[in-house]
Formats: sequence, structure tokens, C-alpha cells
Amino acid sequence: MLDPRRGLLITFEGPEGSGKSTLIRALADRIAELGEPPVLLREPGGTATGERIRAILLDPALPELRPETELLLMVSSRAQLVRESVLPALTANRIVLCDRYADASVAYQGAGRRLGEDRVAVLNDFAVGEAVPDLTLLCLLPPEEGRKRTANRDQDRLELEDAAFHDRVYASYRAMADSGDPRFKVVDATQKPEAMLEQAISFLRSLEHDLLGTL
Ligand code: TMP
Repeated sequence: MLDPRRGLLITFEGPEGSGKSTLIRALADRIAELGEPPVLLREPGGTATGERIRAILLDPALPELRPETELLLMVSSRAQLVRESVLPALTANRIVLCDRYADASVAYQGAGRRLGEDRVAVLNDFAVGEAVPDLTLLCLLPPEEGRKRTANRDQDRLELEDAAFHDRVYASYRAMADSGDPRFKVVDATQKPEAMLEQAISFLRSLEHDLLGTL
């Protein structure tokens, strides 16, 4: 059972083009109707320091950036976000919605870059400490569908990776979904945005947390 005196940390993950940003915005509006709006964060980024790190990480003009460097920068951004934003918000009993978090490093750097999911987990523990999500919504859709959706937009350094990379990312998220860890819930991202929102809300309700009251 969650500690009703503490805030809630809900993270959103999924491959490119999964509609998670639209879902977060819609969910934030619904939560705001309950009273206090949620704290919205994103990774990499979310703090002034983290946003500078993000600019390096996503810059297509830096093809020489090595996987190890990429992983450590992702984790650095996370370490800053946890201490500067996540933990203070949780202590203040706020609901935090974070667009990607530690699981993204497992999927993208651990599986996608083949750095090893166990190695990434060690670094994530160091960065995250006790700020483990209460719920992680995995917005999943088949990689080929994601590719179709992102084909016509400006692509960042990671989106430009080949299909095999994105297939490994997807397989890693699927493995989390199938791991039996109750923190993970799958939102079917092939649905329309309204249906994704309703599915997400039903997962939030199942947390039975005081802060979600009459959601
Ligand atoms: P997004 O804001 O469009 O989700 O872009 C962030 C990109 O960074 C996306 O391609 C996923 C990637 N990413 C990682 O590779 N590892 C990480 O740990 C995080 C948080 C994001």
C-alpha cells in the first residue's frame, strides 16, 4: 500500500510516436480538476542543468557521442532532476508526471545501445535512490507503427537510429510489461487518444491513493 502522506510519482514510457506527450497533457488536465495541478517533468531535462544536457543528447550534429557517454549524461540529468525537482515535490505531497525516467535508460542504452540492462540498473539506482515510481505507464505500439508516425517530423539523434535499434528498445519495454512487476501497466497506444486517457485513468484509480480522490 502506498504511503498516503507522500506524493505520487507516475512515469510514462514508450517508443517514439506512442502518443505519450498527448496522454500526459490530457491526464494533467484531469488531475488539475481535482484541485492542485500535477508537477510536469521530462527526461532528459526537466531542470536548467538537465535541459542543457538534453541539448547535447539529442543533437544530430554530434554523431560521435559514444554510447557510454550517452548513458552517463542520461543518468546525470536524472540525478539532478531527482534531487532538484522530484524529491521536493513528493515531500510536498504533489503528484508528479514525468515524461520518461529510469526505465528509458534500460530500454534505450541497456538494450538499444547494448550496454547491458543490469549495468544500467546499477547507475539508475545511484541516480534515483528512493524516488522509484509508484506507477509506470508503458505506452506500447509496434515499432513499425511508431516509425510511420514519426517519419514526417524532424528527428533527433536517437530517433535517427536504425530499425534494429528501435526494435530492441521495444522488446525491452515489452519485457518490462511481461515481468510481473506491478509497477508496470500497459496502455495500448494503437488506440485513439481518448481511449488511451481512459485506460490510464483506470490504472491511476487502482492505486487508491488519497491524492487521486475522485479522479
Ligand atoms: P522525447 O522527449 O521525444 O521522449 O525524447 C527523448 C529521447 O531520449 C527519446 O529518443 C528517448 C531518449 N532517452 C534515452 O535514450 N534514454 C533515457 O534515459 C531517456 C530518459 C530518454
